[in-house]
Amino acid sequence: MAEPLTRTYKLRSGRVTPGQQRALDSLADRFAVPGDGPLDLTALFGREAPVVLEIGFGMGATTLEMAQADPGTGLIAADVHAPGVGALLRGLHERGLDNVRVFHGDGAELLERRVPSASLAGVRLYFPDPWPKARHLKRRLVDARFAAVVADRLVPGGRLHCATDWEPYARQMVEVLRAEPGLELEHGGPVERPEWRPVTKYEARGRAKGHEVADVFARRPAEIA
Ligand SMILES: C[S@@+](CC[C@H](N)C(=O)[O-])C[C@H]1O[C@@H](n2cnc3c(N)ncnc32)[C@H](O)[C@@H]1O
Repeated sequence: MAEPLTRTYKLRSGRVTPGQQRALDSLADRFAVPGDGPLDLTALFGREAPVVLEIGFGMGATTLEMAQADPGTGLIAADVHAPGVGALLRGLHERGLDNVRVFHGDGAELLERRVPSASLAGVRLYFPDPWPKARHLKRRLVDARFAAVVADRLVPGGRLHCATDWEPYARQMVEVLRAEPGLELEHGGPVERPEWRPVTKYEARGRAKGHEVADVFARRPAEIA
């Protein structure tokens, strides 16, 4: 049996507002990733579409903006934090978006256990928990196991996009992704935020504290005919 996954998050006890609770109660059926078996991505979105997985959307504001800007892409958005799940569900309803499916749970586990090989056009990790203390380093999401799973689940030419405001984590991302034979680190290392990626809530706080932000891209090489 595969080794159990490391828990990469700390469940916070943040209060769910009445509006978020109403969204959790009434909209989960419409937008939630159903079942517990292997995912059929065409059935999930009701059409053939490139599909991107975002792990750790926080309160979901960036997810909503990116989904609205790219209605032709199906987005699976995963987070463990109930207030954020409620906020995203509400946002999807208010904006009339139908290209997002929400997973309330561990996105790394979803990726490893339920997403088929060679099925995702992209994986997004925007400001994953940095786990700065030495004794917590193993909780970081981007490690060798995660990179190998991402390489397998991406379609040829598919892309992993990470961003962090924690410089040691940016270095770890670069090392791990460079070492994964199924991925090609792009641009040789971190780059500045591309214009099309909105500044996230967590990122804005980091920038206000003077943190430098790094975007890191890696691609599964396209197959040669
Ligand atoms: C530092 S916050 C960043 C949130 C958002 N992306 C932003 O930039 O504002 C990290 C988020 O990742 C979530 N998270 C951490 N590990 C996760 C996992 N394995 N699956 C799903 N969500 C996870 C946490 O609950 C939290 O909401």
